[in-house]
Amino acid sequence: MSNQLLQGKKGIIFGALDDKSIATKVAEKCVEAGAQIVLTNAPVAFRFGEIQKLAERLGCEAIPADATSLEDLENLVDKSMEILGGQIDFVLHSIGMSLNVRKKRAYTNLKYEWMQKTFDISAISFHKVMQTLFAKNAMSEWGSVMALTYIAAQRTFPDYNEMAESKALLESFARSFGYHFAQQNKVRVNTISQSPTKTTAGSGVKGFDVFFDYADKMSPLGNAPAEACADYCLFMFSDLSRYITMQNLYHDGGFSNMGMSPAVLDIE
Ligand SMILES: NC(=O)c1ccc[n+]([C@@H]2O[C@H](COP(=O)([O-])OP(=O)(O)OC[C@H]3O[C@@H](n4cnc5c(N)ncnc54)[C@H](O)[C@@H]3O)[C@@H](O)[C@H]2O)c1
Repeated sequence: MSNQLLQGKKGIIFGALDDKSIATKVAEKCVEAGAQIVLTNAPVAFRFGEIQKLAERLGCEAIPADATSLEDLENLVDKSMEILGGQIDFVLHSIGMSLNVRKKRAYTNLKYEWMQKTFDISAISFHKVMQTLFAKNAMSEWGSVMALTYIAAQRTFPDYNEMAESKALLESFARSFGYHFAQQNKVRVNTISQSPTKTTAGSGVKGFDVFFDYADKMSPLGNAPAEACADYCLFMFSDLSRYITMQNLYHDGGFSNMGMSPAVLDIE
């Protein structure tokens, strides 16, 4: 889809790790839609080289920043404003990582130091990004800040583990900061609650493939693919969505409003 929906807009995109990452699809589509972007990811992600290749392909800069470090975030925002030549119109937070999930700890036997680190990386980083932008008055009027989340924030999906609470916290930060940003200069803050998607972070969840198929059957439209999530992000970054703020927006093929689907019971 080629359009100029984001012509003249400037954005920062967190979380493009490889070609499966949702943030990679968003970055590609933003550039296609006329935006100028800066890519960023944790310094460790730069070791794999994929993000530099993506930056080259899209003709943009990639700046390492650990999203839990205020120092890194300040540097990122300053440099991005220099590179892009002024205030930022949109930001995507596409970051998630759970230490307890990675180390296969059961929800009933969590290590709390790891849980705190998980919250810091997956949720508090969103507050840190917004606080850094807010303090520097780095967002332009009617700008748009987005983060990606999952329905485990509202309902129990046992294998999602401590990421459920991370996402609940993330969504709450969007509502609370959304108020303050609207007061400062009409900046909007929202989360998109996305279907299960086959990426590095997604596949880290136990039983992901089986669950992916279940969710696909439960959703009348099927699971929403990463490309469609990117389209939704573009709409949210654009001027077409100016009065949407402090919302958690389901992008899930209808999954969130289903009770039972014959497709799952195989009785169609
Ligand atoms: N894949 C799914 O099924 C799914 C579903 C709903 C929501 N989401 C959310 O979408 C977002 C993107 O995930 P994805 O599925 O594209 O997977 P991904 O693994 O491609 O992206 C996760 C990103 O987080 C980055 N990251 C980790 N620690 C960081 C840190 N300290 N500082 C900066 N970046 C850091 C990683 O380098 C990576 O780029 C996450 O918030 C995830 O929870 C994913």
